[in-house]
Amino acid sequence: MLEAVHDTAEYSLPSRLAQLIVSPAVCCVKASSKGLQKSLWNLGGTTQYSVPCNARDAFDLEDETDMQEQIAQIKQDFLQALEKVENLSTLEELRIGVLGKKGSLTSLLRGMGAVAPELRPQVGQWINQAREELENRIAQREEMLQDGALQKQLLLETIDVTEPRPLPRIGVQHPNTMVLNEVLDCFVGLGFEVVEGPEIELDYYNFELLNIPKNHPARDAQDTFYISDNAVLRTHTSPVQARVMTTRKPPIRVVCPGRVFRADEVDATHSPVFHQIEGLVIDRHSSMGDLRGTLDAFAKRLYGEDITTRFRPSFFPFTEPSAEVDLTCFNCRGSGCRVCKGTGWIEVLGSGMVNPKVLDMCGIDSNEYSGFAFGIGLERITMLRYGIPDMRLMYEGDERFLRQFR
Ligand code: PHE
Repeated sequence: MLEAVHDTAEYSLPSRLAQLIVSPAVCCVKASSKGLQKSLWNLGGTTQYSVPCNARDAFDLEDETDMQEQIAQIKQDFLQALEKVENLSTLEELRIGVLGKKGSLTSLLRGMGAVAPELRPQVGQWINQAREELENRIAQREEMLQDGALQKQLLLETIDVTEPRPLPRIGVQHPNTMVLNEVLDCFVGLGFEVVEGPEIELDYYNFELLNIPKNHPARDAQDTFYISDNAVLRTHTSPVQARVMTTRKPPIRVVCPGRVFRADEVDATHSPVFHQIEGLVIDRHSSMGDLRGTLDAFAKRLYGEDITTRFRPSFFPFTEPSAEVDLTCFNCRGSGCRVCKGTGWIEVLGSGMVNPKVLDMCGIDSNEYSGFAFGIGLERITMLRYGIPDMRLMYEGDERFLRQFR
């Protein structure tokens, strides 16, 4: 640029210097000649100025920095980078890199000390213009990014309230529970009350009061989990009946459902934990006929009108006489099939007239009252009811099994 300044003397300085300084870039002239400084100072005036013949001597060429070019470069770099900015944090990094305390444009402003005082206003103005422009572009970009981020977030958080949802998975009642409810309904309908008792039971109620004294061989019939000499996991729900007999006056009509425990090996028809529903009626003149009528009503209610009961002699220490009760096979209705092993009958429960000894031990006068009792294995009637071939299926909690009882 300074090559354009000829060696000769006379120049119309306003235009020459204007060219020199303004175009195409800033001339940060650090003039070593006072005369030239003066000339530059008065830049913009109309006076004709004299410039020393050797302009190279007049200017400190090494110190000249092309500010305008630098600004243009910073701007260009900035705009290029801005294009690529995709999120607010990189935008902020870019802003700091240019406009921050140590940013490239800020550094230019800091370097103003090196600019001839008379040029500073102009150079300052350029830098400020550039700063303003860049700030505007940053603001625009920021708005765009925020808009985009918002749109993205809105999109992510969109809830289509009209979208059909899969139905919630609703649990089902366990088949045991369904049959239990049915059985209880039946007995409640016959005037029975439902009574429950503890699963950890005193030996006294589980055995003694039921005419199974300690060391009696009848104890062997129920493989018991002993907790101590006096406490057991109840082996049947009969102790609930004993508790009722010792605390209430007849007439008594109760059914006692609940979990019971026996030290049995697990197989298709045995489990160490299972359920019983036992019933007890005590009144004046209650008879074996009442027992049979009651169990017939239960059988018909559960399996249908054509089902009847068959009583076979049996033994229980707490009933006398005792009977095993069979029901007409629900599967073949009595003609004989695989389920009833060809007999037409299925063994379902134990029963009998309450042993007078038990009544007396429980404080009920056996001369005045008589009673009958029965004990149903819940699992057994559930399995018969639904044709469940293996008892273990009922305890595994397999959803595929349970879902079938919806
Ligand atoms: N308690 C007996 C048992 O668990 C069943 C039963 C109850 C038998 C009532 C007769 C009368 O084996």
